[in-house]
Amino acid sequence: MTCFPFLFGKKVSSDVRRDPEIDEGLSGIRIKVYTYKQLKIASDNFSPANKIGEGGFGSVFKGVLKDGKVAAIKVLSTESKQGVKEFLTEINVISEIQHENLVILYGCCVEGDHRILVYNYLENNSLAQTLLAGGHSNLYFDWQTRCRICIGVARGLAFLHEEVQPHIVHRDIKASNILLDKDLTPKISDFGLAKLIPSYMSHVSTRVAGTIGYLAPEYAIRGQLTRKADIYSFGVLLVEIVSGRTNTNTRLPMGDQYILERTWELYERKELVQLVDISLNGGFNAEEACKYLKIALLCTQDTPKHRPTMSSVVKMLTAEMDVNESKITKPGLISDVMDLKIREPKKKIGLETFPSSYNASSSSDSQGTTISLAASSAATTSTFTLKHDQSM
Ligand SMILES: Nc1ncnc2c1ncn2[C@@H]1O[C@H](COP(=O)(O)OP(=O)(O)OP(=O)(O)O)[C@@H](O)[C@H]1O
Ligand SMILES: [Mg+2]
Repeated sequence: MTCFPFLFGKKVSSDVRRDPEIDEGLSGIRIKVYTYKQLKIASDNFSPANKIGEGGFGSVFKGVLKDGKVAAIKVLSTESKQGVKEFLTEINVISEIQHENLVILYGCCVEGDHRILVYNYLENNSLAQTLLAGGHSNLYFDWQTRCRICIGVARGLAFLHEEVQPHIVHRDIKASNILLDKDLTPKISDFGLAKLIPSYMSHVSTRVAGTIGYLAPEYAIRGQLTRKADIYSFGVLLVEIVSGRTNTNTRLPMGDQYILERTWELYERKELVQLVDISLNGGFNAEEACKYLKIALLCTQDTPKHRPTMSSVVKMLTAEMDVNESKITKPGLISDVMDLKIREPKKKIGLETFPSSYNASSSSDSQGTTISLAASSAATTSTFTLKHDQSM
């Protein structure tokens, strides 16, 4: 598989406002640039009825473009605004990355303060709002479908990690970023978005950190961001897909609240099969389901270099490679190094500094949970800056 550059050709609408900075940024831009007016019309004036979601980057609206295509229009919040040139450069890179398991970026809008991304619209929402929504969805995910989803996501991530040059670390792999098309083919969304955040916002905040349950310990604690951090998040997602449960559920009895902890416990007792979603009513291949959970344990190993690459993960999931059980040791659990406490429900707190001793607070136990890290009383704080390590 390859990256298909220059697919879009230069398609700058003639009615883009003439702003010298925008003009400069637009030279060499190959993606479609929409005017604000076009997107306003497409989304019926960004009407609340068309709002399909809201994330850390801003609001997402459903809209119908002039050519009849249905789009997801992501209006980036003003804080995520950055210079036109950098913005367009990044957008250009993202738009050239195409793969069956990645969401397609149709184009963007840069006008005045507006920074908007236009994606293809995925009919079946995200894994967070369907499989993991606790029964609030009409979709049924049988075992075959779950396997297809796991393999699809793994392929999409392997593509970003190993085929795109320079490689892309997604850094926010989680169920709400796995969208599903009408056939339930998974599409990874929000790749490359992290780079759109201005440098002054490059400290980890809830918006990029996602939920704590997906965070590799070395990323959460030391800010070490490598492909291995994505692989850890993928491992957590894998357990969620097999079990039909969110990674954290504080309504469950202690010991059962953090799914990875539970996975390890059941693995040690050789009872992994207990973790498989009961809503499958036994309609699954037990050996395969346990194998998937073991792959998840490999992906979440505490030591980043002990985690397999995504291409190996694809091979293990598709049975082209054996799972080496002797390499499974206790996974890295953030709860082992943190004092996890639930407080301040429904409140999102950004994290610009990272304390040497801290508590985690969770806003809900749903998939969309935003768990923030907050300094405990007398903690000294140290800045948590992302470090890019090219070696892994
Ligand atoms: N291309 C799309 N097609 C259909 N729905 C989409 C699309 N993109 C986003 N959405 C919907 O909008 C919601 C919000 O997306 P957004 O990426 O802004 O936030 P998030 O992924 O939920 O959280 P975060 O900002 O923390 O990553 C998603 O959960 C999904 O339901
Ligand atoms: Mg998202």
